[in-house]
Amino acid sequence: MTSAVSATPKMARLVLDGKEIEFPVVVGSEGEVGIDISALRASTGAITLDEAYVNTGSTRSGITFLDGEEGVLRYRGYPIETLAQHCGFLEVAYLLIYGELPTAEQADSFREDIRNHTMLHEDMKSFYNGFPRDAHPMGILSSVVGALSTFYQDAMDVHDPDQVEVSTHRLIAKLPTIAAYSYKKSIGHPFVYPKNSLPYCDNFLHMMFSTPAGEYHADPDFVEALNLLLIVHADHEQNCSTSTVRMVGSSNANLYASVSAGIGALWGPLHGGANEACVDMLERIVEDGGNVKKYVDMAKDKKNHFRLMGFGHRVYKNRDPRATIIKACCDKLLQKHHVKDPLFEVAQELEETALRDPYFVERKLYPNVDFYSGVIYRAMGIPVQMFTVLFAIGRLPGWIAHWKEMHADGSRINRPRQIYVGPTRRDFIPTDQR
Ligand code: SDX
Repeated sequence: MTSAVSATPKMARLVLDGKEIEFPVVVGSEGEVGIDISALRASTGAITLDEAYVNTGSTRSGITFLDGEEGVLRYRGYPIETLAQHCGFLEVAYLLIYGELPTAEQADSFREDIRNHTMLHEDMKSFYNGFPRDAHPMGILSSVVGALSTFYQDAMDVHDPDQVEVSTHRLIAKLPTIAAYSYKKSIGHPFVYPKNSLPYCDNFLHMMFSTPAGEYHADPDFVEALNLLLIVHADHEQNCSTSTVRMVGSSNANLYASVSAGIGALWGPLHGGANEACVDMLERIVEDGGNVKKYVDMAKDKKNHFRLMGFGHRVYKNRDPRATIIKACCDKLLQKHHVKDPLFEVAQELEETALRDPYFVERKLYPNVDFYSGVIYRAMGIPVQMFTVLFAIGRLPGWIAHWKEMHADGSRINRPRQIYVGPTRRDFIPTDQR
């Protein structure tokens, strides 16, 4: 986009009903160009219409930059590849939320703050008795996170920095506990309390897989893989769930309610739920004899609702850099643990087949973040229904960072307009005349 920056006009001109109106042009730090139409309705009476916001920027943000054409993703200016290689997840969470990589002291203090909030209030455990054993863990997660607001009524003021800070710590600390408890509930095992002597990812795997009956030590390779997965999921600018957190937060709803809404949006199979749907799809292909071409053809058939889950992206029209990172991690983990997962074989064949097919090439459909992540989760023994929960644990710092940025910018309540296309005014018809 650099060429456009030098040639970018300062104003955009619109002609409507013979009247010419000018709007300021906004250019971002990476050369992205936006037309500020804040004055459009006041000066023309007209609004813009942009189904699914494909062409609409909702805000200015300094958190994450991504270039879909080039396959670039940076958190606060740092390339995702560098962060995935050198950082711990809480270090990246700190970067997203506070804007800078932490010093050693800041990182220690942040980890200590998180450690102090890992347990759930004992009364919250009784919620799990009310859920059916086969409840989807995303339904549990969004419910229990929303309910946190009822236990922390001392932290509802969205404009009180101390209350926002303690809520930030509570959410980052408690999501793994809430998630692990939902898994233990599903298999009839006793809940395992967090062990604060363990680092974040080790502690989650401890709560997931240890039992009172024996010793458990998380495999360091699984801890490393989980750390990388949480980092690459941590933020992605104005995606559906982050925009939801901003939308709900814009009404001054508390952080717990805003994050609970974001969890609901992430659950959808077109969004974060795609990692679960992708593994279901790969299993279906394996059970169907590995007939990859059949499923690629189904995905191209407009009469068929089937889509390749984990493929395609609203913004990336090049490889999703996260998919590249995750695929390499997947390959390394499976080889090191001598795991031959037929799903990984099928996934690689599916990618090769699709990327040779004009349908996918013309539409610039590549594997996205959800295509290979499930294979790693499976290798770690994480059940498929928990995959999107892991996505939520990773995305949480991004949600919090955007929620805080929105309030810091003094955002107004988000309230889009519409174009009404329903019946014009008509007279009432009494029941006996209908
Ligand atoms: C995430 O926004 C983010 O940043 C999200 C995310 C994040 O980190 O927050 O990156 C995480 O949600 C990744 C996406 C996970 N979802 C999936 O993998 C579900 C499968 N993918 C698609 O349904 C789709 O690609 C979306 C939802 C991801 C994007 O949808 P768009 O931008 O609305 O694109 P579209 O549906 O208009 O598709 C454009 C064309 C269509 O064909 P034509 O009408 O042009 O003929 O591409 C086709 C679509 O039919 N297409 C696919 C396809 N994805 C798009 N065809 C087959 N298989 C697919 N997966």
